[in-house]
Amino acid sequence: MSSFSILITAGPTREKIDPVRFISNYSTGTFGYEIAREAVRRRMRVTLVSGPVALEAPQGARVIRVESASQMRSAVMREAKKADCVIMAAAVCDWRPERVSAAKIKKSGRKLNLKLAQNPDILAELGANKKAILVGFALETENLDKNAAKKLKEKNLDIIVANRLNRKANIFGRNSLDILLMDRAGGRLSFRNKGKNELAKIILDKALNFAI
Ligand code: CTP
Repeated sequence: MSSFSILITAGPTREKIDPVRFISNYSTGTFGYEIAREAVRRRMRVTLVSGPVALEAPQGARVIRVESASQMRSAVMREAKKADCVIMAAAVCDWRPERVSAAKIKKSGRKLNLKLAQNPDILAELGANKKAILVGFALETENLDKNAAKKLKEKNLDIIVANRLNRKANIFGRNSLDILLMDRAGGRLSFRNKGKNELAKIILDKALNFAI
């Protein structure tokens, strides 16, 4: 499988408010980086499009660093043309400030209203014009099964990795997770407290099953 080309995204995106502020999320990028490391071990050609994270670049992978969802979209659309498989593990911000202030916003003693515009869904865009094996992620607090199945179908994915977000325990940055894996052939695997490195192997094994 030396010529198998895989594109992985990881980490959060940052959406600028002004030159010193942004909105983002708690993603640490560890899952995507783990998948990238495992793909390198398997001698795949690995491109990692990464949002801002505090992780070391996986040796042997080509890393493209981006900040915003819009930058991630450009990099993914360009790189996906060469990929046999795309794994969207990034926590892309669903919204961005409608207006980015060129100057630092000053306190005025009054409320500040931020209007947010919706970002394009990169994964849905890839699914609408499907050219590679597609793996998506879902983070759910409720109805894990139902919502994951819906995303799998609506975004035209081969596999969805659904992550249960526990209201009590913070899963971000944790190494072991409760995961539900669903595929478009109706396959369903459930894991409890499984390490991200183990999960990376399972996800890649499963993705290769859909190789054309
Ligand atoms: N994703 C993406 N582009 C976005 C938002 C999300 O490509 N603008 C991708 C993520 O990388 C992930 C998947 O879509 O693989 C799931 O994202 P998520 O935010 O959990 O689900 P949504 O489909 O956006 O639905 P909702 O937020 O309403 O649950």
